[in-house]
Amino acid sequence: MSIQFHQTTKTFHLYNDNISYIMSVLENGHLGQLYYGKKIRDKEDFSYLVEKVPRPMASYVYSGDRTFSLEHIKQEYPVYGSTDYRHPAVEILQENGSRIMDFQYVSHTITGGKPELPGLPATYTESDDEAETLCITLKDVVTDIRLELLYTIFATGGIIARSARFTNDGEKAVHILNAMSLCLDLPDHDYVWMQLSGAWARERHIKNRILEPGIVAIDSMRGHSSHEHNPFMVLKRPSATEHQGPVIGFSLIYSGNYRIQAEVDTHDTTRVTVGINPTGFDWKLDCSETFQTPEAVMVYSEEGLNGMSQTFHNLYRSRLARGYWRDRPRPILNNNWEATYFDFTEDRLVEIASKAKECGVELFVLDDGWFGERSDDRSGLGDWFANTDRLPKGIPGLADRIEALGMKFGLWFEPEMVNKNSDLYRAHPDWILMTPERHISHGRHQYVLDFSRPEVVDCIYGMMKTILSEAKISYIKWDMNRSITECYSATLPSDRQGEVFHRFILGVYDLYDRLTKAFPHVLFESCASGGGRFDPGLLYYAPQGWASDDSDAIERLKIQYGTSMCYPISCIGSHVSVAPNHQVFRNTPLHTRANVAYFGTFGYELDLNKLSDEEIEEVKEQIVFMKEYRKILQFGTFYRLKSPFEGNETVWMVVSEDQKTALVGYYRVLNVVNAPYTRVQLQGLNPDLVYENLENGTEHYGDELMNLGLLTSDASCGEVVGDAKPCTDFDSRIYVLKAKEI
Ligand code: GLA
Repeated sequence: MSIQFHQTTKTFHLYNDNISYIMSVLENGHLGQLYYGKKIRDKEDFSYLVEKVPRPMASYVYSGDRTFSLEHIKQEYPVYGSTDYRHPAVEILQENGSRIMDFQYVSHTITGGKPELPGLPATYTESDDEAETLCITLKDVVTDIRLELLYTIFATGGIIARSARFTNDGEKAVHILNAMSLCLDLPDHDYVWMQLSGAWARERHIKNRILEPGIVAIDSMRGHSSHEHNPFMVLKRPSATEHQGPVIGFSLIYSGNYRIQAEVDTHDTTRVTVGINPTGFDWKLDCSETFQTPEAVMVYSEEGLNGMSQTFHNLYRSRLARGYWRDRPRPILNNNWEATYFDFTEDRLVEIASKAKECGVELFVLDDGWFGERSDDRSGLGDWFANTDRLPKGIPGLADRIEALGMKFGLWFEPEMVNKNSDLYRAHPDWILMTPERHISHGRHQYVLDFSRPEVVDCIYGMMKTILSEAKISYIKWDMNRSITECYSATLPSDRQGEVFHRFILGVYDLYDRLTKAFPHVLFESCASGGGRFDPGLLYYAPQGWASDDSDAIERLKIQYGTSMCYPISCIGSHVSVAPNHQVFRNTPLHTRANVAYFGTFGYELDLNKLSDEEIEEVKEQIVFMKEYRKILQFGTFYRLKSPFEGNETVWMVVSEDQKTALVGYYRVLNVVNAPYTRVQLQGLNPDLVYENLENGTEHYGDELMNLGLLTSDASCGEVVGDAKPCTDFDSRIYVLKAKEI
């Protein structure tokens, strides 16, 4: 890995074995983008890539010259209004009403490693040789605004992490109306745009469209990254597949309002911008103040979507997630939510936990309903002290009983929210986000606390700290169950109201930071009505997230398949729940529910006392299985093989680091009569090793399994032969492949 600067041509070349990223200082002092793609050899001069041709109707920077038009030059951080008519990376409103900026190169530094972004989640390095960071300083002389563009290239993988930082060295305040984390101008538009979209209970479904001239965007204006569109997007060449071909993934490490956009102009170039949503954003930058954008990560892969995903998985699992639990297999848990909802007593919880313990579960989680006057979703949020009607000896009493069973104990919070029927609201009615003189809307009968105010965050921190200090708590589920409306903070002046959404998220990060530092051994799981804030920003604090409130195994195939595009398996919260399922009322076999949940953190979302003896035996076997293989399932190399969005079957697999063990998850939604003879070509095995298939005792070389394929045919042909078990709808199996010692 290296970052080269060629002085004579003022060219920067960031490269490693996989990629090159090249830019240069243009003749007007701005930064031009020259190339991002497969590695090419370094050289002094790539200036031929700056497109300078006279075109009718273009506007030109220099008099007497009809070549230098920013409209036709690929740039790193463009502004609107001085010959470029495309959507910009930055817009700054100045005192005189102008929004034109002229950021010119001043200097740069190249350092080993990667600096932290104060107050924001970001990828990191553990030693300086893991990455190099280029910081390019540019200046607008009229306003004296300093812009620092940060680029980190990691030693391995096609990763470039980027962000921008503005400092007002001038004497007048300005308003930042748009500050993208990343802008990438690409020379053509021959791409398929892929996004992860959905809604509550059907998050992160894969959607594709062909890029055409015009603008395509996904965004959130809800105050959280949202169920609707994940802050992630892929541009893939039409010929690229899961296993080969060029793709570029874009991911924003942020949990609030964002926008990811591609603008294709009529000369077929594509401008990608990724950052905080400019809609409603207005950050006043006073003299001497600095504004840091969130970080955006780009991954270029020649190995198709799986190659891109594996790069994101490695980076986010080991250099975004942090702390004690980062590299540890996750405890198998039993959460009481779908077992009891709000209807529980302490004894009932212990009854559920006892059965879970008998089955081998390691962690019991008490969900919503344990605090304040909470008996339904109309009251109690904000009062983070135990309801002693339900829990006579408070949280310590219940935690002790769970610990006495030989299990760990976990607890649910929804720190950012308040019900009007709560002591907290009665004491501080002005602590919620609300616009003066306007109606205040609710979501799930609750209101959003103004986390842009430090005293509000302090108060919630105090209550949570007390609970966490008093009782033996090993896990926290941090929920967030409504979007923000009528966003306005009572304490900010009128010209800073455009900062509230971002300040709110900074407050959330601050609380996460304080709690994770104060309680470093607690495992945090993020949640937002399922997957409404399943984003890289929270992964920095909470190494796992509840992927969706939809716990149906068949629905989960799509949700988890889509999620795996960007997010590592170790962070995908996935549980076995009852049949018929509570969201779609579908009956799926118990083994299929587990076979899907294995590819995630694994746990149970039900009362195991209600299962038959036969089912309990099956659950015990599932837990033994998960304990044996969870390290590989959660930390191995994951491959998508067959998409639930394209047919009746889904297949995915993980391979251990030493390639000696692989687990293939095979799922068929509807049974097929008189089915064809089927095979699936596996990935990532050692071609020379012989693998024993523990499902049926067969033995095959890795190259056979990868090229001829794994036979998946079964007794679904209408006639069950011999001992074979008849298949049903919603069937599945896990093939465990173990390399034989040579
Ligand atoms: C959200 C979560 C659920 C559960 C409930 C409790 O919907 O996603 O898992 O915790 O809140 O109210």
